[in-house]
Amino acid sequence: MTVHIGAEKGEIAETVLLPGDPYRARWAAETFLENPKLVNEVRGMLGFTGTWRGHPVTIQGSGMGMPSLSIYVNELIRDYGAKTLIRIGSCGAMQEAVAVRDVVLAMTASTLSTPSRGIFRELNFAPCADWSLLSAAARAAESRAVKTHVGGIYSSDVFYDERPDLNEQMERHGILAVEMEAAELYTLAARYGCRALAVLTVSDHLKTHEALPSDQREKSFGDMVEIALEAAFSE
Ligand code: HPA
Repeated sequence: MTVHIGAEKGEIAETVLLPGDPYRARWAAETFLENPKLVNEVRGMLGFTGTWRGHPVTIQGSGMGMPSLSIYVNELIRDYGAKTLIRIGSCGAMQEAVAVRDVVLAMTASTLSTPSRGIFRELNFAPCADWSLLSAAARAAESRAVKTHVGGIYSSDVFYDERPDLNEQMERHGILAVEMEAAELYTLAARYGCRALAVLTVSDHLKTHEALPSDQREKSFGDMVEIALEAAFSE
């Protein structure tokens, strides 16, 4: 047990999928894992461990935003020995060419700040995905009908953003989408020698203001979970 995770040692797999939403953790575990078992419910942040094609997998909610994700990822890596961590979540598209329902594989994650900011001081550290996971996820996505983009994203501290000028600069520089967790996940993975990736489904569009209706979310989110699982266990 840790401060925020009630699982016993050994109940968390080396491969962990991290949706922000604990209910999505339950849905993904019940839909994609064999014999999913509830291993954490501290603060309602549900975590499940089961197997996928015989491989042990944990699906643990991370909460919203980098401070919340940072707590879970620190404990998963340092106390439970997690080695491969893949965020599965939603994002808002920032480019015309990226549409609602598309998948975005985050090669890099720009930020204004992360909970790790204090370590780096004047250095602008560049959080990036693990190449083996990123390339395997791109291959897994190719064999599906879902349109997939690979590139830089923005990890924001705010959902209700008051800096349209900053979004403009990011659009100019090719940032594909915005979410709120990947940069800290990538930074922690780099620090502890783990593999990390963010596989994201576009749930809304910052330019067109289109949003994925809730009844269509499951199918799109399902593609993302399967891409993440195939990437985690590809040769
Ligand atoms: N902003 C930040 N995070 C998000 C968004 C957004 O528009 N959509 C999904 N996650």
